[in-house]
Amino acid sequence: MSPRPEPVVSVLLDPDRAGDSLIEDVRRGLGSQPRTISPKWLYDDRGSELFDQITKLPDYYPFAAEHEILSDFAPQIAAASGASTLIELGSGTSEKSRILLDAFTATGRLRRFTPVDVSEATLRQATETLAERYPGLRVEAVVGDFTLHLAQLPAGDRRTIAFLGSTIGNLYREERAAFLGALSDVLVAGDSLLLGVDLVKSADRLVAAYNDPDGVTEDFVRNVLHVLNHALGSEIDVDGFAYVPFWDPHMERMDLRLRAEMPQRVRLPGAGLDFTLASGEEVRVEISTKFRISGISGELEDVGLPVRQVWTDRAGDFAVLLAAKPTG
Ligand code: SAH
Ligand code: AVI
Repeated sequence: MSPRPEPVVSVLLDPDRAGDSLIEDVRRGLGSQPRTISPKWLYDDRGSELFDQITKLPDYYPFAAEHEILSDFAPQIAAASGASTLIELGSGTSEKSRILLDAFTATGRLRRFTPVDVSEATLRQATETLAERYPGLRVEAVVGDFTLHLAQLPAGDRRTIAFLGSTIGNLYREERAAFLGALSDVLVAGDSLLLGVDLVKSADRLVAAYNDPDGVTEDFVRNVLHVLNHALGSEIDVDGFAYVPFWDPHMERMDLRLRAEMPQRVRLPGAGLDFTLASGEEVRVEISTKFRISGISGELEDVGLPVRQVWTDRAGDFAVLLAAKPTG
């Protein structure tokens, strides 16, 4: 019997997370109008734990809907992909990865799984669990940023890159186009992308999904201010902000903001920023774009990744698309 391969974790991110990337992001986002903070900074250990709690909230339907799709169709997805390496971007706790891995390992072709996430502790824990559950699989995790490190992901095999949870909806339109273009550039003929997207639906259900009565989502969004205080040595009064989630029907996205309830001096010595937020001024922390299958299919087609198959949950709330880099 061959020995179980030890899981490997490669770290591509600056380990203190307060490196150039955060400083540059904060200068650009908070230093301009409208003020924004990039949502990737939401996921320190506490943020990852809060997101995990969000996935269990009764009104947060995207997690359950995508889980249903994967449970119903994973064998079809694995057969259509034919991958020997599965890479997953923003894999988090890898709860849904397991549904895919059960089906992909059953094909007998899968050799390697590479989960990629900025949240190091969550990724390390998931990696250990997966290595134990799939003893014949090489689990080669990457602590990395999917907007920066795509070119450093494993190559050479037939690959499927999974990007689940509708995390693509957290990118702004221009970021999304750049990301999809970069992704298409690293894929070669026969590789594919498995993309989970949340679909446009009634404003009531959307707002309920991002405004739970216990305030878990609010804590998750507010946590970004703790991350800045910790990483950049600021003293932002985290409780001096109100949580403002709303549906933007024009952009078809949820817009999650924090509004200063009184004038707030924001000193970020680590980023060389010092300004005052006026009372009522808002900082946009996250958007969560909702999609139409025709629209996202067109975006994928535009970057040379035509959609081959689409699966939805029974209620039609969420879709998983398989797009492939054409051969020849
Ligand atoms: N895929 C899981 C988790 C979604 S939460 C699911 O569907 O339930 C989004 C995940 O993406 C988090 O684990 C977060 O740490 C990670 N993430 C956010 N921005 C990232 C980035 N730029 N690069 C890599 N991971 C990122
Ligand atoms: C990770 N991402 C897809 C979640 C979403 O629904 O946009 C993040 C989230 N923010 C608040 N609730 C959940």
